[in-house]
Amino acid sequence: MIGIRNVKTLIFLLMASYCVVSIVLYVTGTDKNTTTKNTSIARKTPTTTVTNSAQSISHNGFINNKYNSKWNKYVVGLKTSTDTAAARVPIQLLTFLRHISNVYFFGDSVEELGDTKVYDVVHNLYKDGNLSVIDVNGQLSTSKNGVSNGWIMDAHKNLPGFKKLYELYPDRDWYLMLDDDTYLLFENLDSELKDLNPAEPYYFGAYFSFVGCGGIKNHGDGPDFAHGGSGIVVSRGALQRMIKVIDDCIVDYRTCWAGDVRVALCLRDANVTLDRRFHGRFINAEPDVDLDWPDNPCSYPLTFHHLKPKTIYELYATENRVNKENRPTNYADIFKSIMAHQHEGGIQDNTDIKGYPFAQTRTINKEKCKDVCRENIKCRAYVYDENGICWLKGSIQKTNSVEQSRSSGFITNNYICEENEPKPAPTPTISKLE
Ligand SMILES: *[C@@H]1O[C@H](CO)[C@@H](O)[C@H](O)[C@H]1NC(C)=O
Ligand SMILES: *[C@@H]1O[C@H](CO)[C@@H](O)[C@H](O)[C@H]1NC(C)=O
Ligand SMILES: *[C@@H]1O[C@H](CO)[C@@H](O)[C@H](O)[C@H]1NC(C)=O
Repeated sequence: MIGIRNVKTLIFLLMASYCVVSIVLYVTGTDKNTTTKNTSIARKTPTTTVTNSAQSISHNGFINNKYNSKWNKYVVGLKTSTDTAAARVPIQLLTFLRHISNVYFFGDSVEELGDTKVYDVVHNLYKDGNLSVIDVNGQLSTSKNGVSNGWIMDAHKNLPGFKKLYELYPDRDWYLMLDDDTYLLFENLDSELKDLNPAEPYYFGAYFSFVGCGGIKNHGDGPDFAHGGSGIVVSRGALQRMIKVIDDCIVDYRTCWAGDVRVALCLRDANVTLDRRFHGRFINAEPDVDLDWPDNPCSYPLTFHHLKPKTIYELYATENRVNKENRPTNYADIFKSIMAHQHEGGIQDNTDIKGYPFAQTRTINKEKCKDVCRENIKCRAYVYDENGICWLKGSIQKTNSVEQSRSSGFITNNYICEENEPKPAPTPTISKLE
């Protein structure tokens, strides 16, 4: 017993003396890197600030979560549910939401995720507690006793979510509503919004038409709605108008099958219409699964949807790398990091790639077909049919599995944004001066 105590005492003394030595070194400024800091022991660790991403990376490898005040003009509402929160939200908090301080989660039961609160905006929303929605065909679906039923509950979250965001932060510029499997490229969005006046009523997203809500019977008779999973963006000016009528909207549209449609109807009632200018850049697809890559690799996306945590992680890594170059993240960047490593060199058997070929030729095998494509700068994808036909395609679209003997692949080096490629060293001009 005494022995053990002595060992403990010894360890304690060793530790204590180490601390004293450290403190002395610290206070006297002998320890390098700390000479200018006198705040506290905890801050002794020297930090390197990476300005673009606002991360502080300490020398022991921890990346500190640091809110960047440049994002304070944004308020983010994120819809999640009891069923999906634990699986989906953590990767969002670790990646693109890391530097955003005004993020609120809207769920369907009172919950906490770590130290993040999830607001229940669904229960007690209506006096009679009737959480029913009527689908496009007029069928009634009910969420029984508040048991989570993803789609039904989700429809009730958008409007109360926006109302809550406004209550919390009535004076910010932009209010976003996302799903828990959406990724938003903040730098890209900000480069588009920074020159707009948020006091004006803006409503952005990917536009669609609907039937079945607000008495709309034919597609196109109602207002366009911004598809929720691809992300909804409204300006302060739009939200201020919507807030005047939102309590009526919550009741009037309570049976509508989709929450994003309810938002469009409510904004219509507030005299705000969807601005289509960013359509096609709020994307309801996953880069590595079902995205039809735009022909211009230099254009840049604002959101993706239906993402796996791994894809979110890869998108964030790509953005971090690109942001250091002070430019938006374009499709070529994402293609390179997400698709290239999966497909480079790989000819995928029993697959076909959608899209119209710009040329067709005959080759003796699939490898030769790939070679022909690689040598044509316009060719980004090829499909080879075993009877010798080689199709060359200029667009990179979804890959389909097929029964018949076709093979296909991409030429990743033909999908690049030239503006961002490292420039070759200037050739000596002397030889041209003749
Ligand atoms: C040291 O601490 C004092 C008191 O907190 C503060 O006024 C001073 O600015 C600090 N100096 C440095 C170099 O951080
Ligand atoms: C709930 O609301 C729907 C739609 O208005 C209605 O058809 C249904 O009868 C209501 N259910 C209850 C239990 O009140
Ligand atoms: C929308 O416009 C109509 C007609 O100009 C007006 O009567 C109504 O008050 C406006 N609603 C809002 C919420 O601004």
